[in-house]
Amino acid sequence: MTTCSAPGKIILFGEHAVVFGKAALAIAIDLRISSSVTKSDSYSVNGHPMRKKHHAYVSASLDEAWNGPPINIDTESEIPSGSGLGSSAAVTVSCVGAMLAEKGIFEPESVAKKAYEVENRVQGRASPIDTSTSTHGHGILVSPERSDDFLWRIEKGEAKWNVHHCEVPMLNFVVGYTGIHAATGPLVARVKRLVDTDEKAAQGIERIGEIVTDGATALRKGDKQKLGALMRENHVILNELGVGHPSLEKLVAACNGISFGAKLTGAGGGGSMVALTDDIGEVSKAITKAGGKPIVVMVGCEGVRIESTGVRKRSNA
Ligand code: PMV
Repeated sequence: MTTCSAPGKIILFGEHAVVFGKAALAIAIDLRISSSVTKSDSYSVNGHPMRKKHHAYVSASLDEAWNGPPINIDTESEIPSGSGLGSSAAVTVSCVGAMLAEKGIFEPESVAKKAYEVENRVQGRASPIDTSTSTHGHGILVSPERSDDFLWRIEKGEAKWNVHHCEVPMLNFVVGYTGIHAATGPLVARVKRLVDTDEKAAQGIERIGEIVTDGATALRKGDKQKLGALMRENHVILNELGVGHPSLEKLVAACNGISFGAKLTGAGGGGSMVALTDDIGEVSKAITKAGGKPIVVMVGCEGVRIESTGVRKRSNA
C-alpha cells in the first residue's frame, strides 16, 4: 500500500482569469486529502466498485497515471467538496502521487502535469493553479512570463503557464464557507461564454491579470493594506463575471469593515470567501453571524508528500 497526502488551497488573486492564460496567485492551506493505493481484485474506490461518473477525478487519475493491475483507492478528506478550497485538486494530486509512488516514479513535476491533465479533462477547461499549488505547497504564482523561482511550465492550446514558487509571509486568513456546493466546470464555461461576447468582461480578465502582478509584489512585502485593497477589487470583477452568489456577498460584506479585505476564493457560485485579518476571532464571529462557517487556515503549507509505502493487498471479498 502507498499513501500520499496533498493540501487544499486558497486562491488569493486570479481565479477564472488564469484559465485564459493570465496570472494567478494561490497559497496551500493546512487541510489535506490523503489517498492510499492498494493492489486489489478489481478497480474500486473506498471499497466500492469504481464508476467513471461517480468517481470522476479518481478514475481520470487512473487513466493518466496507472497502467498496472487492479487497485483500490481509499480517500480521506479534511476539505469540504465544492467549497472552493481545492478538494478536487487535492484528491487528484494525492491519487496521482500515490500511483506514481507505487510505481516507483514519484516526482513533483510529473505529479503536477498529470494532475493538471486530469482536472482539465474532468472539468472541460482548467488552469494548473489548483493542481500545481496542491503539488508544490507554499505559494504558487502562475504567469504567462517566466521569472525567478520558476518550477515548471504547462501548456494547453493557446495558454502557456509558467509556474513559480512564491514565499508566503505569516498572514492570518479566515475562510467563510457558504455551505453551498458549486461545481467548477459549469462556472468556468459560463465565464468563457461571457468573455467571448462581452467587451467589459474581457477587460475584467485583463485587469485581474494586473491585480495578480501587484498582489505578488504586495505579498512579498507583506503589505496587508495593499493586499486587502487588491482583494476587494478582484472580488468586484469576479461578481461582474457572474460567479458571485448572494450568500458569498453577505459574508464578504460582513468582513469588509473589519478586515484588510475579503473576496470570494475559487470558482465562486457559492463555495467560499476569504478575508485577510489581524483579528481572526472578530472575523470568525462576523462570518458565523452572516450565516457562514468560519475556517481559520494556516497558509504556506507543505505540498504533496508520500506518507507511507508498504505491501498490503486488499481483498474485496
Ligand atoms: O473552486 P476551485 O477550487 O475548483 O477553483 C477553480 C479555479 C478556477 O480558476 C475557477 C478554475 C481553474 O482551473 O483555474
